Amino acid sequence: MGQRHKDIRNGLSAPPKPTLVNLANLATKPRWCLGMLRTPRRAFRNIAGHVQGVDDLSSLASWTNQQFDPTLDWDDVKWVRDQWGGKLILKGILDPEDVEPAVASGADALIVSNHGGRQLDGALSAIRALPAIVEAVRGRMEVHLDGGIRSGQDVIKALALGARGVHVGRAYIYGLGAMGEAGVTTALEILRKELDITMGFCGLRDVKKVNRDILVPGTF
Ligand SMILES: Cc1cc2nc3c(=O)[nH]c(=O)nc-3n(C[C@H](O)[C@H](O)[C@H](O)COP(=O)(O)O)c2cc1C
Repeated sequence: MGQRHKDIRNGLSAPPKPTLVNLANLATKPRWCLGMLRTPRRAFRNIAGHVQGVDDLSSLASWTNQQFDPTLDWDDVKWVRDQWGGKLILKGILDPEDVEPAVASGADALIVSNHGGRQLDGALSAIRALPAIVEAVRGRMEVHLDGGIRSGQDVIKALALGARGVHVGRAYIYGLGAMGEAGVTTALEILRKELDITMGFCGLRDVKKVNRDILVPGTF
């Protein structure tokens, strides 16, 4: 697991512990607390009650931590592909060196991603890693970009550098936190509108025609 210093400092845990600091924090947010009390209880129903010894959130958290296998290698990716039989996308490629094994694994696409910068301080940003990976892939599989997409302009920059599509994490979660389902729709509409306007200003009608010509030379 990555070390998230903010989470360590804030004592984040699942389930949350009723410490003095946490209780004081909750006391300053009565509206949020009331709202939370009215929401249905959530559980990982495909795991809780099915896996032996996993019945609640705390046993789920420790069981999940035990599932990470540090001996994982590219043969395991092939195994997953054979078990799954459907489309397979590899997420978290940052180094062109990983492109050949990724292609050989038979996966359909890869996602250039540092998991939103939440795992390793100092890791390369996905957008910076993207061009070298697109070059190494040479069209043999789809390349997507994930991480740092906050606007439609970010989407178009990723497409210009060779990504076939982008993935969005926090941008829609911010919308969810602010306005629930309507907030997610709003976040996606904002991204779409910004993309549309940016394409207009770049003189483009077709998203498939976006390429490096729209970027300022020397900035990528
Ligand atoms: C709350 C949260 C939980 C996440 N959990 C996972 C996870 O379990 N596995 C994973 O591969 N990525 C996880 N991610 C990373 C996202 O899949 C994605 O790579 C990242 O959010 C993209 O960056 P962005 O938030 O800047 O768009 C998580 C991200 C957030 C914000």
